[in-house]
Amino acid sequence: MKVRKAVIPAAGLGTRFLPATKAMPKEMVPIVDKPTIQFIVEEAKKSGIEDILIVTGKNKRSIEDHFDANPELEQDLEEKGKTNLLHLTQSITNLGINLYFTRQPHPAGLGDAILRARSFVGDEPFAVMLGDDLMDDKVPLTKQLINRYNKTHASTIAVMPVPHEEVSKYGVIEPASEIEPGLINVKSFVEKPDIDKAPSDYAIIGRYLLTPEIFEILAHQKPGRGGEVQLTDAIDTMNKTQRVFAHVFNGERHDVGNKEGYLETSIEYGLSHPEIKDELRQYIIKMGAELEKEDKSKKKK
Ligand code: UTP
Repeated sequence: MKVRKAVIPAAGLGTRFLPATKAMPKEMVPIVDKPTIQFIVEEAKKSGIEDILIVTGKNKRSIEDHFDANPELEQDLEEKGKTNLLHLTQSITNLGINLYFTRQPHPAGLGDAILRARSFVGDEPFAVMLGDDLMDDKVPLTKQLINRYNKTHASTIAVMPVPHEEVSKYGVIEPASEIEPGLINVKSFVEKPDIDKAPSDYAIIGRYLLTPEIFEILAHQKPGRGGEVQLTDAIDTMNKTQRVFAHVFNGERHDVGNKEGYLETSIEYGLSHPEIKDELRQYIIKMGAELEKEDKSKKKK
């Protein structure tokens, strides 16, 4: 069956970005000038997805508004002859993909958020895309997972090696065997293992291709790590009755869900943004020289 649908869970509290996320959704925090959720919707579109369900929660209305038309703003831009900005604004409404919204009443965990998509997804395979990770590669990562699914008809989870001391931040796989380059048969999936108990350094990153059987499992899934219903636990259960593969991502991953990753990504994307790249480059070179001088004088003392 063709993969046509994607679910973007966006109901988390975004506590790592407080106080910014007290009243504003973290998905609306921009990288240079584009909210992170727009990057995710664009990846879905490039991957051939037709329908997206965004699972939101309290204080998330601006996500819906962002993808809606804004007639007042558009009229103002038109009257002032700001044609480029007008087209830019309208292009967000005309992405050519259907967006649906539902709410998760309590942030009870990623697994619980995905369960909200059950009637939207029905009996089809579907993608899950987390807004914390921006992925860059020639072929979008969601499309890579769809390509795998088209051959295996099995759930496939995107993974990447991470430094060993960071494994406890992620869901981690216990690999069984590599069945072809970049496709791993998985023995088990563990959510945020202690560093000394981690079965590998392959971390689950924010893209999943799941078969609909996951919903029945999620419906009975008990809360796990952190008292939340964990998607990783449900995937581990599913792996016992049907094959679940891990797909190794070789592209570039930008973790924008924490402050440092967010700032690094903003700088990298800024350095290729046509409007600001030259000035930003000069600024970074100047700043780099100043910081180096500062470090040298500190060492002398
Ligand atoms: P995270 O735990 O990374 O996001 O969940 P968070 O809870 O928003 O952020 P922090 O950790 O407090 O800073 C991964 C994804 O799952 C969604 C989040 O919105 C994020 O996209 N999520 C998480 C939900 O939709 N509902 C939940 O109950 C939990």
